This record gives sequence, structure tokens and C-alpha cells, in this order.
Amino acid sequence: MRRIGASLAASALLSACNRHQSALATFGAEATNIRTITIALVVGAAVIAAIMIGVYWRAVRAPEGQLTHKQGMRLVLWLGGIGPAIVLTVILIFALPAMRPRVTGAGDLTIHVEGEQFWWRVGYERPGGGVLVSANEVRVPVGRTVAFELTGRDVIHSFWIPGLAGKMDMIPGRTNSLVVRADKAGRYRGVCTEFCGLSHALMAFDVVAMEPAAFDAWLAGQARPAAGAGQGEGERLFAANGCGGCHAIRGTEHNSRIGPDLSRYGERLTLGAGILPPTVERTAQFIRAPQEAKPGVRMPAYPQLSNQEARAIAVYLKGLK
Ligand code: CUA
Repeated sequence: MRRIGASLAASALLSACNRHQSALATFGAEATNIRTITIALVVGAAVIAAIMIGVYWRAVRAPEGQLTHKQGMRLVLWLGGIGPAIVLTVILIFALPAMRPRVTGAGDLTIHVEGEQFWWRVGYERPGGGVLVSANEVRVPVGRTVAFELTGRDVIHSFWIPGLAGKMDMIPGRTNSLVVRADKAGRYRGVCTEFCGLSHALMAFDVVAMEPAAFDAWLAGQARPAAGAGQGEGERLFAANGCGGCHAIRGTEHNSRIGPDLSRYGERLTLGAGILPPTVERTAQFIRAPQEAKPGVRMPAYPQLSNQEARAIAVYLKGLK
């Protein structure tokens, strides 16, 4: 028992440290609803477990011996009938209002997200028209409703930001809508929750909830090409090795939409869809052997590049901000 208590305390501590990916550390009304239902169910389960232990001690291990028929009937009535009925009614009272959607409407902003093996294609509908393409990171303004338009490009994926809302499937050929609102600024984590291949567990993304004015400035700034786009030795190697055959960088001739957009790679919080720190070193390693970091990824390996050449490309990409 002491060991179970210690491990529960340890996991509670761990989840407290790792608050950025937890359905209990919420930053949106929909996720708060889900947390309410979760807590009601856990408390209900604990009460029912306590009742079962009570029945065991009173009826089976009663120190004063066998119960009389009348005592037995009373036990069954209270602990087997009335007690659980009260618990289930209390859960229902908590859960019913929490099941109503809190955030509705068309959304002040639309963000398209497509799941692909094993990354996320992100497109922000811009106020003036057009879509700003990005990848593996989602930024949302605090206090405004955001409509996520979700689909899959190859197989079924599932979009889940535990702190913001429930899960939504991303199905090829179909668009599912998820309307949410972030109530608190911060950096959070989203994950794929539908098994989609070898690197399913390595398909994550960062969510940054920003103050509305900062978000507007960020979105407007993203449309401009990054400083450093199309310059230097790294850019020459990027072009010479055909990286532009799959990736796009705004402000350059590279505009393929096969792989993740790299226009502002220098501002990205992670590499490889939420799994690695985007340092020059890691980026160079990823370019030479992406399968090592992400088994099953579509990007081919570039073992023909020397360390120095891969580093030059990584330095170029890190400069895109
Ligand atoms: Cu994508 Cu699992």
C-alpha cells in the first residue's frame, strides 16, 4: 500500500512538473469541461471503491460474526442500491452541464491543420485573404475563438491539445471542425492520438497561446520573407541538393509543398514535429539521417553530405527568422 501511495505521489509530482501537456492543466473552456467530468468520475470511482471495501469488512470479515437476515438486507439496500444511486446522481449533476459545448460559432480565425506521416501542415487564414503556411507549430490568440479545420493527407491521424480541448480525428477526404478558445497565454503541447505508423508516438507539436495584439503582429510579420532567405553557402547547398524539391522558403525560388514549410525555421520551437530541440547540431544530424530520429519518415537520408555541409545547411535554416 505504501509503495502504491509513493508511486501515486511520484506521478502526481511528475505531472505537476510536466504541466504543458496535461488534460488537468487546462487553458481552454472545452478542456476545463473534460477535466470536470474526469474529476467527477475519479471521485465517484473512489467512493464506490470505499463502499465495496466497507461491504467486505462489514459482511465478510465482520468481527462479531455472521450478520442477521435483517442486517444483511439493510446492507444490500444501502450499500448496494441507495449508496451507488446517490454517487451516480452526483456524477450526473456534475457531468451534464460540463457536456455542453462552451465555445461555439464560426471562429474569429480559421487554422487549417493536415496530419501527415509524421508531421503537421498548418495554414492560417489571413485577415486580408490568403493562407499563411507553416508547420509543426500552432499559434493561437488568447480570448478569440479559433476554428481548426482538420484533415489527414495519407492515413487517419488525430489532433489533440490536452490542455485546450478534446480529440478530433483527421481523416483523408473529410474535414472535421473543432472550435476552441484559449483563455491563458503560454506554451503547451499537442499530440497525434491515432496510431498512424512507425513514428506515431513521435508526432507532436507545440501550441503557443499569445496575447491577441502579439498574435496579430506575429501573423502579419510571417508573410514577409525571413532575413537571410536565399543567401550564403548553406542556401547554395540547400538548392544544390534538391531540398527545395520538397520544402518551401518564402522569398526564395523554393516553393514545393511536399514536405514541411521551412520559411521561419529559425523561430521554430522544435525539430521533427515536437520531438527534438532545433539546434544546428540536431538539425544537421536530421538532414543526414532523418530515419534515425524518426523511423518511417518520408524524407530521404543525405549521407553523401559531409558533416560540415549538413551543418552549413542547418546554419542557413536557423538563420531564417
Ligand atoms: Cu499521426 Cu499518429
